Amino acid sequence: MHRRRFMVITAAGLLVGCNRVQPAQARDAAPPQRGGPGSPVVPKSAAPLDGQLCGPTSPDLRGPYWTPDAPNALHLSPKGDLRIEGLVKGPDCRPIPGAMVHVWQADPRGRYADDRLRGRLATDKDGAYRFETVRPGNYREPNGWRPAHIHFEVTAPGFKPLVSQLYFAGDPYLSPNDSCSVCRSDGADRIIKLAEVIAPYRRQEGTFEIHLAKA
Ligand SMILES: [Fe+2]
Repeated sequence: MHRRRFMVITAAGLLVGCNRVQPAQARDAAPPQRGGPGSPVVPKSAAPLDGQLCGPTSPDLRGPYWTPDAPNALHLSPKGDLRIEGLVKGPDCRPIPGAMVHVWQADPRGRYADDRLRGRLATDKDGAYRFETVRPGNYREPNGWRPAHIHFEVTAPGFKPLVSQLYFAGDPYLSPNDSCSVCRSDGADRIIKLAEVIAPYRRQEGTFEIHLAKA
């Protein structure tokens, strides 16, 4: 198992599965979506509107590859081909500073490892998080393929913990083609579009807003 690390995580500054890159993996070039839980591009310091409500992000399966000891800061891929960023908000749409975002994912060949592509970071004073990684690959299970995804667990004092998965628009294995029948890859609030960028180097970028419910 490689010890080389692949993912960069910064706090405003990573089911059964295995192998093989899926060539049909989607590479949407559409601009990021705006508005709605899970499909955000929201100004980081935007003040919440009076009466605005942010319904909780839908949960999904934790899966077998979660580990409790992920590093606090990772540099797994200084020039990874994927950057994800967003805000963590409460039910009143106010950003939550200091929320812990724990992420873990497969590599581009759909393989999990204990020592890479996983980590945790805290949201900054604006409730924002950002991490750079490599795009996860699809992986085969006995009954088919899983859509590419990133697992995450988000916690914050006073809020209910959220365990879920982030997916990418256009993946041919999203539900109902997901091999994991108990996963929820039909959660529209967790399927994001990625934008192609060239500078500072070629990669895809996406935003994912996470909403927590009050404890
Ligand atoms: Fe997974």
